[in-house]
Amino acid sequence: MTRPRIAFVGGARPNFMKIAPVLRAVDEVNPPFEPVIVHTGQHYSAELSDVFFEQLGIRKPDVHLDAGSGTHGRQTARVLEAFETFLLNASARIETVMVVGDVNSTLAASLAAAKLHIPAVHLEAGLRSFDRTMPEEINRLVTDAVCDLLLVSEPAGEENLIREGIPPSRIRYVGNVMIDTLVQHLPYAEPNGPATGDRRFALVTLHRPSNVDSRESLAAICEFLIGISAELDIVFPVHPRTKSRLEEFGLSERLGRSGSIRLLPPLGYVENLGLMRNAVLVLTDSGGIQEETSYLSVPCLTLRENTERPVTLTLGTNMLVGSDFEKARQSVCEILQGKYRKGKAIPGWDGKAAHRVVAELSAFLENRHLVSPILQAGA
Ligand code: UD1
Repeated sequence: MTRPRIAFVGGARPNFMKIAPVLRAVDEVNPPFEPVIVHTGQHYSAELSDVFFEQLGIRKPDVHLDAGSGTHGRQTARVLEAFETFLLNASARIETVMVVGDVNSTLAASLAAAKLHIPAVHLEAGLRSFDRTMPEEINRLVTDAVCDLLLVSEPAGEENLIREGIPPSRIRYVGNVMIDTLVQHLPYAEPNGPATGDRRFALVTLHRPSNVDSRESLAAICEFLIGISAELDIVFPVHPRTKSRLEEFGLSERLGRSGSIRLLPPLGYVENLGLMRNAVLVLTDSGGIQEETSYLSVPCLTLRENTERPVTLTLGTNMLVGSDFEKARQSVCEILQGKYRKGKAIPGWDGKAAHRVVAELSAFLENRHLVSPILQAGA
C-alpha cells in the first residue's frame, strides 16, 4: 500500500537546518508516511542554499519551485502560485503539508494548502516578537492561523497560541529541531574555521531590514564594531542583503580599513558552527543564532529591541541590546572579563526533537479525517 505523502517545504537558509533532522528521523524510524521535499527557491545561491543540502545531508529536492527574490508581495505570490499548481497536480498526491519557521515561503505554502483544504503543520509555531514591522512576524501570525497542527519549540510558543485562542488540541510541544542539527554536527565543526590569529574574536551576523536597510542604522553598527575591534577581532560573514547595503552606503571600505575586522562571504553550516562555538561572543540579529549560542553557552548580544525566542533571555545566554551601543559596549567589556550568564538546559532542546516531530506527524495522519481539523471545528 502506498504511504500518505507529506510535503516538507523549505525555502530559505534557516529552513534547511530544521528540515534536515526530521528527514533523518524519518529514515531511522520508517514512519507511516513518505516525505516529499519541496524547495521553493526563495534562496537559490550556492552559499545560502546548496551548501546546506550538502553539509546537512539533505537529498536533492523532489520539487523545485524557482520562486527567487523580489518584493515581499511578489516573492510570496510566486511561491503561492507555484506551490498551489504543484498541489493541484494529481500525481503529487500530497495529503499533508509541513512548513517550518517564518520566512515568506512558510506563509505562502501554508496559505496554498489551507485554500485547498489540505491539512498543514507548522514546525516552530507560536513564536511572537509582537513587532509587526518585522516581515517574519506577519508570516508567523498568518501561518499559525491557517495551520492545523502547531509544533512548538519553546514555552512562549505554547502560551502565545493559547492566548490567541488556539485550542490546546492543535498544539504540541516538541522542542527545538535546530538543536538536533547542532548536536549532530558539533563533532565536525571546524575548530576555528576562517578565524585566524591568537586574539579572541567575536562572530557577527546581520541581515534584518531594520538594521541593514537604512544608512543611519547600518553606519551606527559599523562604528560600534570598529570601536570594539580595539579589544578583539571581528569575524563577519556577510549576508547578500547586507553586502549590497554596505556597498551602497560606502561602508565596506570603512570596515575593511580596521585591520581587525574580517568580512567573509556567507558560510556553510559547519564553518559557522565552528566559529560560533569558539567565539568569545556573538553579535547578531538572527533568530536561530540566539538559540544556538544559548545551547553552546556562548554569550550572545542581539541587536534587536525584541525577540520571539524569550527563553533564550531567561534560560539561555542571550541579551537584547537593540541599538543601545553604550549598553552593548558595556556588555562586551563584561563578557571579556568572564562576567555573563552561563545559561541552563532548555526543555526539549536535547537533540531528539525530530523524533518527536515524526511521532506527532504519524499520529496526526492516523487521527485526521478527510477534511482538515480546522474546517471540522468550524473555526
Ligand atoms: C530571509 C527571510 C528571513 C531569514 C533570512 C535568512 C523572509 C521575509 N525573510 O531574509 O526570515 O532569516 O532569509 O537568510 O522570508 N539573495 C542572494 N542569494 C540567495 C537568496 C537571496 O543573493 O540565495 C539576495 C536577494 O537577491 C536579496 C537578498 O539576498 O537581495 C535578500 O533575500 P530575501 O529572500 O529577500 O530575504 P533575506 O533577507 O535573506
